[in-house]
Amino acid sequence: MEAVTARAHTNIALIKYWGKRNEELILPMNNSISITLDKFYTTTTVQFCSCLNEDMFLLNGNIASKEETEKISRPLNIIRKLVGRNIFAVVDSINDVPTSAGFASSASGFAALAAAATKAIGLDLDSRELSQIARQGSGSACRSIYGGFVEWHKGEKEDGTDSYAEQLLHPNEWKLSILSVLLESKPKKILSREGMKRTVQTSVFYSGWLETIDQDLSIARHAINERDFEKLGTVLEKNALKMHATTLGANPPFMYWQGATIEIMNVIQELRAKGIEAYFTIDAGPNVKVICESKNEEIVYKTLQGLPMVKDIHTCQPGPGISYLANKKKIH
Ligand code: ADP
Ligand code: DP6
Ligand code: CO
Repeated sequence: MEAVTARAHTNIALIKYWGKRNEELILPMNNSISITLDKFYTTTTVQFCSCLNEDMFLLNGNIASKEETEKISRPLNIIRKLVGRNIFAVVDSINDVPTSAGFASSASGFAALAAAATKAIGLDLDSRELSQIARQGSGSACRSIYGGFVEWHKGEKEDGTDSYAEQLLHPNEWKLSILSVLLESKPKKILSREGMKRTVQTSVFYSGWLETIDQDLSIARHAINERDFEKLGTVLEKNALKMHATTLGANPPFMYWQGATIEIMNVIQELRAKGIEAYFTIDAGPNVKVICESKNEEIVYKTLQGLPMVKDIHTCQPGPGISYLANKKKIH
């Protein structure tokens, strides 16, 4: 069978996915809204072969761990079931983004896998169906099937058939700047999966998250529709802080921030006090993403660039959804 190569970009959540109601099917407690980023992506080649008796996974050129390989077998099992064939695959994936460091490698990784694997086995699925397969690898991956601004609908059904992502705006319909500030590229100690599980099960603040999430989502949707940057920035920063607050109320408590994370947050709030509209968000890791309008990109960049704890800054814009690449390699 032919090897197929697909690419997917990471996304940054403006309103976070934080907590599952079903761990097996990866069904979330709440809807989430994201922007797909142009600068960070994963490229994955998949080839099925009847000569294999298990899935093989190469991640960034190395044989992946047992846990990582089990995680990719989950969406691959769904694909095998769809075609009714018990055939295994070699998966060769390269992240052009730090892996497991809070830069959403799981999002671009599983979106690229869903796109490449379905095509490699001979299926021709639409974006909604692809987002449902990607979701079952890593929740945030369902949003990376699409470019631009994206919403993941949590769905109501317990079989997950109405839990999928959908595009809200094309990448070129609102050209915001997202500055991805690298403070630490080492893998995090508590993976997103484990962190959100502990939060749902033990955090005394999780009820506050659930009580206010629909209001945050509604404000964000309106702001995106109206291209109201101040409204969007205010709600996305609040939502990120609230998500991180839930980790402090967990048992045992945990925290994704480092000292440098808090310093950047202060710098951005000081910039705002000077009249520069910039807002921050943070996923499950210490690194910070700063969002601003293009007119302020340069001043925000210059402010951050000189700071001693800043190792690197990547200036992103809303990026594209999945794409297929002409195959350069045959992997098996
Ligand atoms: P991140 O912030 O990078 O998304 P997560 O904790 O959510 O971190 O997920 C990290 C896990 O995602 C890794 O341990 C691995 O299992 C999986 N992953 C990362 N990159 C890929 C990839 N390219 N293909 C498949 N799985 C991947
Ligand atoms: C904080 O999608 O990485 O980045 O579904 O368990 O694989 P799993 O988790 P993942 O969680 C992402 C959490 C977040 C917020 C977000 O991206 O919405
Ligand atoms: Co992730």
